[in-house]
Amino acid sequence: MSMKNKMTISDIYFAGRRVIARVDFNVPLDKDGNITDDNRIVGALPTIRYLVENDAKVILVSHLGRPKNGPEAKFSMKPAAERLAQLLGRPVMLAADVIGPDAKAKAAALKNGEILMLENVRFHKEEEKNDPAFAKELASMAELFVNDAFGTAHRAHASTAGLADYLPAVCGFLIKKELDIMGKALDNPERPFVAILGGAKVSDKISVIESLLDKVDTLIIGGGMAYTFLKAQGHNVGKSLCELDRLELANELLAKAAAKNVKFLLPLDNVVAKEFKADAEAFAVDSTEIPDDCMGLDIGPKTIELFSAAIKEAKTVIWNGPPGVFEFEKFANGTRKIAEALANSGAISIVGGGDSAAAVEQLGFADKITHISTGGGASLEFLEGKDLPGISCLTEIPSGSCDCSSCSGCH
Ligand code: 3PG
Repeated sequence: MSMKNKMTISDIYFAGRRVIARVDFNVPLDKDGNITDDNRIVGALPTIRYLVENDAKVILVSHLGRPKNGPEAKFSMKPAAERLAQLLGRPVMLAADVIGPDAKAKAAALKNGEILMLENVRFHKEEEKNDPAFAKELASMAELFVNDAFGTAHRAHASTAGLADYLPAVCGFLIKKELDIMGKALDNPERPFVAILGGAKVSDKISVIESLLDKVDTLIIGGGMAYTFLKAQGHNVGKSLCELDRLELANELLAKAAAKNVKFLLPLDNVVAKEFKADAEAFAVDSTEIPDDCMGLDIGPKTIELFSAAIKEAKTVIWNGPPGVFEFEKFANGTRKIAEALANSGAISIVGGGDSAAAVEQLGFADKITHISTGGGASLEFLEGKDLPGISCLTEIPSGSCDCSSCSGCH
């Protein structure tokens, strides 16, 4: 997946033009509706500021959560619009609907440099179906489409991809930054190149493991899926998560790694407990000695040493998925130590979104990481080498002379 030949926000002339900008403001909220992590909003600021400074009439569109029954107050974009206004220090209007009369009237009345946020685009079921009539209706409010929703770039929805059928489509600065940094790491990494993967299931990560085996020098496996590999190697894993129907696959992946000369590091020891509970009694055992009545919930001290040493030698590290159940303090040590090793490594460090990004933030290492992706599923699909519909839909840079009247070359 490459941005080569795709138009970016810098290629377009915006003054006085209505721009629909897709952002990913799908931010976590607490039970009172307060935003608990605004990284995705902060990540979109350079694009929004650029549009404002270049006198665009800015219409922002995003989803929040997964509403299934039309408009619902708990999925409103209101908290995100308010946080954006605070961060920008300028007003952000909120429409009461998405393509209804309020949104249309407010969009039509926008003056240069003003910002309007539409309501949650998933209040319309047509959004996720990438319904052409819905995309056309959204597009009718604007003259240009800027996609800066990296977190949703793996979805072929009306507001992430469909709009590009009706409007010139360029990416914003966040998408460009995400693809530049992660693309360079994958295509031309400084070596040794180490990837750390966690997560519950081997079956969810098959394609990413296969794709990374072609690129990395060392692959580190932690989290629940490590136990499928340990079982495949003939160890007893007790009550640990284990996909018995994937043992053969796990062995195939191990054999592939050996054939490609990729070091494949699995936990040497584990912090185990009898129950999946925050206050369960926890103790460390070697991977060869997990008792029948116990489950592995974190990596143990020998493993922390092994993984940290590989990270210390690395020049590029990509991390996706925590090695333990870091939500429970007793099982957070492995994740903390991996984050610390990464922060102190001096390597180009890239953390995929979702749980590992949350862990790095919560544990206080975020400012020492080169890049924390705003995409969970999207960054994983990028690492798998999959096509991202939100990127492939972007307008190609015209070859030869151009008369589009939108790009900076035409002005
Ligand atoms: C995410 O949080 O991964 C993106 O915002 C996409 O959300 P979705 O998984 O509900 O499509």
